[in-house]
Amino acid sequence: MQTKVSNNSKRYIYRKNALGRDKSVMGQMTGAVKNYIKQKNEQRRLTAKEYRKTVRPIATKPVVQSMKKFNHHSQTSCFKHSVHVSYMNYIVCKKLGLDDNAAAKAGLLHDLFLYDWHGHKPEKGERMHGFEHPNKALKNAHDNFSLTKKEGDMITKHMFPLTLTPPSYKETYVIVMTDKLCSVGEVLDKYFRKKYKNKKTNKIN
Ligand SMILES: [Fe+2]
Ligand SMILES: [Fe+2]
Repeated sequence: MQTKVSNNSKRYIYRKNALGRDKSVMGQMTGAVKNYIKQKNEQRRLTAKEYRKTVRPIATKPVVQSMKKFNHHSQTSCFKHSVHVSYMNYIVCKKLGLDDNAAAKAGLLHDLFLYDWHGHKPEKGERMHGFEHPNKALKNAHDNFSLTKKEGDMITKHMFPLTLTPPSYKETYVIVMTDKLCSVGEVLDKYFRKKYKNKKTNKIN
């Protein structure tokens, strides 16, 4: 079937197939881009679904939920930060063919220190929060869940190079990066929110 569309200066001929789709070069290209976006969105939806299924048993535990009470970076709660790190870990490790389950789990538990560090004073013999919290998170995680060696390594060494011991697993290098990226994003989020939306709120989410 052929449809002729006239323009002021040019005459375009759109060839349509039985389904009414444009068979011209531009039509084919637009269709390919649309399909690519559709596939990507579908892929993203499936990855998010898989991720939710993986972390649900851990994320719904009261001890993990209790992280919602503590502010972490700007207006981001400790829980939300942990979900950001966990999801980014999961995606990166999945792409690299690494252990995505350990990545999701350790991401969710890496900051399970369970206090607001902003007003926290180190106890006698303790170092500053940045150095101490990975071990506290590991202890709390151990008390509530069974952890593999790799997951333990990811939790205790996520502050590398601040804590000097280098990671023993590739997945630990991933969490070292994702934790820092998410933290920067969360701090910048507050800055941009204030600057462009003029929203001043102390609510943590
Ligand atoms: Fe941390
Ligand atoms: Fe963190």
